[in-house]
Amino acid sequence: MNVKKAFHLSTLTFLASLLLFSGCNKQDTKSNSSQPVVQATGNPADGDEILVGAVFPMTGPIATYGQESVNGIKLALQKFGGEKIKGKKIRLIIEDNKGEPTESANAVRKLINVDKVHVVVGSVASSNTLAGAPIAQQAGVPLMTPASTNEKVTQTGEFISRTCFTDDFQGVVMAKFAKETLKKSKAAIIVDNASDYSKGLSKVFRAEFAKLGGEVIPTEYTYTAKDQDFRSLLSKVKRSKPDVVFLPGYYTEVGLILKQAKQMGLNVPFLGGDGWDSPKLQEIAGAEGVKGNYISSHFSPDDQDPTVQSFVKEYTENFGSQKPGAMAALGYDGMLVVLDALKRAPKLDYASINSAIINTKGFKGITGSITIDENRNARKSAVVLKTLPEGMAFEQKVNP
Ligand code: PHE
Repeated sequence: MNVKKAFHLSTLTFLASLLLFSGCNKQDTKSNSSQPVVQATGNPADGDEILVGAVFPMTGPIATYGQESVNGIKLALQKFGGEKIKGKKIRLIIEDNKGEPTESANAVRKLINVDKVHVVVGSVASSNTLAGAPIAQQAGVPLMTPASTNEKVTQTGEFISRTCFTDDFQGVVMAKFAKETLKKSKAAIIVDNASDYSKGLSKVFRAEFAKLGGEVIPTEYTYTAKDQDFRSLLSKVKRSKPDVVFLPGYYTEVGLILKQAKQMGLNVPFLGGDGWDSPKLQEIAGAEGVKGNYISSHFSPDDQDPTVQSFVKEYTENFGSQKPGAMAALGYDGMLVVLDALKRAPKLDYASINSAIINTKGFKGITGSITIDENRNARKSAVVLKTLPEGMAFEQKVNP
């Protein structure tokens, strides 16, 4: 009887402590998520490897960006051939942010706090990078994005840099192309309200097109990422009678908009930015939807430069028949710049690695010559591409 009672009591105590323990745990998680600030960890992992954390959208509505980026990064590492830097091997740790800002912040936090990576590379969509960058900045860990073009990204602080051009440049390129090359005079703009990229780029286009003497329809036509039916929006756009439409969005919504616009007889050229640059655009928009439109981007696989052509060849040999798009090329160049910086850094602490990255000068990439300026942005040329049912065709190159 006594034994039984004692057993019973200890079971109760055990259960109670379990409850208490799980209660504590819950509270911990709560206070973590409401307080995104990371304590500066001081130093990266001091093992026999250099850890490169990569944050990319591997799944979700912008998954081709992540898949192409990681392919590019893997080719860059392959080209590097397992070479050791300061006696250490390079190891890539990939985190899928699913194209979501919250997931991006969590991924950056995990790479810094748990893995103690030496450097973070990523992400693609500017709103995703903007969510993760303050965490890296706070912790004093270098974060370099190969693809996010929104102005605000690198304004986060001195640990945040990029190896691509910004939307101040890209937006001007497309406004000029619309006004001077296509000789259009009345533009409508369709914006993704959930995207810092789309909002920023449309602002630049609006100002530049007006400056060049064009008329921009004052109404801002808006949608939100993940919308699927754009017909009522497009009928309003059609009624405003533009002779060109600027659509700075990402390929999933852009593809649907192009398809529905054609079905509704909105037959003016649509212009976009690098967010259209995906091997899935043609599939979503359909042959009729893509025809006769133009985008600005970072790279053309038609570029006859021998280094570009050997990249295109290696890429298709490794990853199938589809030619590499902008993201593949940006991922490749971005990784090579980081490897070059890791070699040049006198030591493998965060500050030395960061200063080596932001002092990159004249690095010969396949997306152009990469020099990181005093605002930690790269000044590089852009290309204008024509979208065709079979892919993107080179139209012109624009230097900064
Ligand atoms: N520039 C886009 C952004 O900042 C991302 C992107 C880059 C998409 C290159 C496709 C290709 O949101």
